[in-house]
Amino acid sequence: MTKVAKPSARRQPPATRSAVDTTTDTEFYLPADAFFRASLPTALTFDDVSLATLHSEILPRDADTATALSDSLRLHIPIISSDMDTVTESRMAIAMALNGGLGLIHYNMPGKEQIKEVARVKRHIHGVIQDPITVGPDLLIGDILAMIEAKSFSFSTFPVVDSAGRLAGLLSGNVVKDRYRTKRVSEVMTPRSALISESAGAAAKDPIAAADRFFTANVGINKMLVVDTADRLRGLITASDVERITTEAKARRKPARDSQFRLVVGAALAPVRRPDGRLDRDKILNHVGHLVDEAVDAVAVSTAHGHTAGVGDMVKLVRSAFPALTIIAGNVTSAAGTAFLADCGADAIKIGQGPGSICTTRIVAGVGIPQLTALYVASTASKKKNVKLLADGGITKSGDIVKALTLADAVICGGILAGCREAPGEIMEISGKVYKQYRGMGSLSAMKAGSAARYGHDKNDHARKVTAEGIEALKEVSGSLDDTLDNLIGGVQSGMGYLGAATLPALREKARYIRVSPAGQKEAAPHDVIEVSTRKN
Ligand code: XMP
Repeated sequence: MTKVAKPSARRQPPATRSAVDTTTDTEFYLPADAFFRASLPTALTFDDVSLATLHSEILPRDADTATALSDSLRLHIPIISSDMDTVTESRMAIAMALNGGLGLIHYNMPGKEQIKEVARVKRHIHGVIQDPITVGPDLLIGDILAMIEAKSFSFSTFPVVDSAGRLAGLLSGNVVKDRYRTKRVSEVMTPRSALISESAGAAAKDPIAAADRFFTANVGINKMLVVDTADRLRGLITASDVERITTEAKARRKPARDSQFRLVVGAALAPVRRPDGRLDRDKILNHVGHLVDEAVDAVAVSTAHGHTAGVGDMVKLVRSAFPALTIIAGNVTSAAGTAFLADCGADAIKIGQGPGSICTTRIVAGVGIPQLTALYVASTASKKKNVKLLADGGITKSGDIVKALTLADAVICGGILAGCREAPGEIMEISGKVYKQYRGMGSLSAMKAGSAARYGHDKNDHARKVTAEGIEALKEVSGSLDDTLDNLIGGVQSGMGYLGAATLPALREKARYIRVSPAGQKEAAPHDVIEVSTRKN
């Protein structure tokens, strides 16, 4: 006889159903402490692990990627371009900051040149030009033409000021012509009485908003002259700069700016030594002083081995002379090394020895730690010391960045950005494909160009054979940095969405890991299909 189940024995209605047992999840998907300890004594890197998903109410586009490198330096995206001579000069640093990140200008160039590179970033689209180039009323137009040619100015409109610095008029570009070369500025300028200006007080709080209102109210005027109560010229804002800045504000990513609305930038420092091997303190402090005068936002003491007396002394030296400056230092891969640099005064510690795509440290010196384990070990000290961690090297895809950010505050990228058109270096064509040079700072050619100190060598030491710890390579040209960062940040936000993390601190809090077998790694990439290229040319 067929038994018919009574209604009460059927599936229970939702209200009385027993709670789902999640112990299997917690047994399999482990938080960082349990996971990395359970993997001992094996060290792991990005492809060895995968992150477990969690219940989410976060759409990727709403995930906030903001981070901080110190109390004073905040970024909108957690990506820093590496201080390498084939990755970051001013063009890359400007593009990084416009995208909300940070570029670290390398030091394989004369000190003066590095200071100029920093200045180029800081002066990019000022918003307010605080020291506009002015001319005197008694000059001849011929003098102005000669000045434009001598200084290679790309503009020809100048505020006119008298000997006391008071605004006397505006010399418009359309009278700076050869036919007027014998006329005096005072004869052809628009006089002060016909100029509309803005008071420094009114423009002080938000100069761009003030200029935006000014240009809307004063149709046809495209320079806002800012004057103080004594009518002395205090600044100039151009309509085209305002338009660019307000467009940027509406763009998906916000530029990373300092408190005076300038783009942020960092510069790498070499531990310069005197012939007797001691740090050249005067030279170092003088150089950092110039960088600070140009309003550099961070300096990075970049070496292959940061847990050394020399690097510690250098960090201490810079910290004591510049208490408010953000200092990045490295590289280390241990908790002791992280704590050491933190105690010396660093705000953010670079983690990574040998994970870089052009690095050969592990092969040459037999030293270094697979990157995720290095980050975990360092994070145990950074939490106690309240310093930031930067995952430096080995990033080849956005998923690696998500994994790194479960333990670090930001990533430093070299190879993944070296093919962008903003990276320095010539483009070369080989068999119909275009490439850019990408070389390790420990490669022989880079060390000869200046980076030997980073690897504990002296570039002028010809007596010893210096062993390279990096290679020279090529990267396929990959288009603009904007597109590359779009892809990388899109991936980071996806990862945050999968973990239900609205912010990067939440991502670190929520991350749970699982080990991946070689078969699992194969499964993770496209397989058993013929991929159709969707790359834009
Ligand atoms: P990626 O993987 O982004 O790595 O190309 C960039 C990082 O690698 C480090 N770096 C080196 N490490 N020998 C090394 O062992 C080198 O010649 C070298 N050059 C750069 C550096 O930390 C960089 O950010």
